[in-house]
Amino acid sequence: GRTEAPAAPTASAPTPAAAPAARIYTVGTDAVYAPFEFQNERGEIQGFDIDLVKAVAQRAGIEVKFVNTPWEGMFNTLAQGDRDILVSAITITPERAQTMDFSAPYFDARQLIAVPAASKVQRFADLKPLRVAVQTGTTGDEVVSQLLGKTNPRLKRFESTPLALQELDAGGVDAVVADNGVIAHYVAHHPGARFKSVEDPSFIPEQYGLVVKKGNAALLAQLNDGLVKLLADGGYAEIHTRWFGA
Ligand code: ARG
Repeated sequence: GRTEAPAAPTASAPTPAAAPAARIYTVGTDAVYAPFEFQNERGEIQGFDIDLVKAVAQRAGIEVKFVNTPWEGMFNTLAQGDRDILVSAITITPERAQTMDFSAPYFDARQLIAVPAASKVQRFADLKPLRVAVQTGTTGDEVVSQLLGKTNPRLKRFESTPLALQELDAGGVDAVVADNGVIAHYVAHHPGARFKSVEDPSFIPEQYGLVVKKGNAALLAQLNDGLVKLLADGGYAEIHTRWFGA
């Protein structure tokens, strides 16, 4: 038979108490952006972005916890050290890349227009004489600012996209411009089919990235490594199907 190996001497083994506590990275997310990030009835943060970061972290061998973080001021939390990672359907833009570091892109998006079902709006340019709501400081805000003018009183800015959509529901604006995934989700889930979405070919393609503090190359490399593995092992496709269908 086989000979048992002698037990390792315990005296030289490191004691668990001497091991440093595993670092838990804090992930900030603006959880009012279904289906990317939102809170369920129990207050738990869920969504495509959440599942994505959990799976990336698992592949990268790091631990994460999520903290609801309002969009406004979100980017400042990195510099303050309150958040290590941001995930919020954040579009990679050259301006933002000057003050924060983005992972490789993980999702393709573009702007989409939400209007009442009976609206005559057929393209983005049709919004020029109308009242339009956006979420402050988003890429939707940028494109509508270009069309209507930054200080146009018919351009109404809200601190969250649900508040902008609420204004559309209340009749206070004629349209909302925001990311396609969020508009499509709203139009599909709003009772009574009172809204529809309108595409426009002039909207430029956008891509979402995870965000870390400028210069945090070590964490960024871990996230990118996790993303590569998640794409290769089929995890990404599984999460995508879970939230957006096949
Ligand atoms: N993709 C758009 C941007 O980066 C909107 C993101 C808003 N995300 C959110 N969770 N509120 O400007």
